[in-house]
Amino acid sequence: MALLSILHHPDPRLRRKAALVTRFDDALRALIEDLFETMYAAPGTGLAANQVGMSMRLAVMDCSETRSQRIVMINPEIISSDERREMEEGCLSVPDIFDKVQRYNRLHLRALNEFGEPFEVCAFGLMAQCIQHEIDHLDGKLYIDYLSPLKRERIKKKLLKREAA
Ligand code: NI
Repeated sequence: MALLSILHHPDPRLRRKAALVTRFDDALRALIEDLFETMYAAPGTGLAANQVGMSMRLAVMDCSETRSQRIVMINPEIISSDERREMEEGCLSVPDIFDKVQRYNRLHLRALNEFGEPFEVCAFGLMAQCIQHEIDHLDGKLYIDYLSPLKRERIKKKLLKREAA
């Protein structure tokens, strides 16, 4: 296993739409282990493959307090969602910045697991929020895109300053 380095905003690689996963082999499962290790070490509740520079529709998550409920989602799709509400959010690619965004509180997810087998899950609260956040990553979106242009500009300046330090 290995710790991977997480890309930070405004890295352009975070803005590309990730490609569908078609090979479910040992290399994929090794990458998944590295993603989990990197996410737990950060620490974070979710990590998408394109946050470590791999253009693949793959994300790992663990929204539990005990850090013991691993979820892998590959080529994920949200089938239905409802109850929009404001939730506090952060992102490992936008370090140390948090803000409120509108998310669906409930959703129905369809995805593949690390063996390419389909599964469906109904999620609510933090897990629903995390799923939407990670799928946004796979589409080249960041949660700060939902904030005002002024706020986004301030965040970008702050992160550029931090990278230069
Ligand atoms: Ni994120």
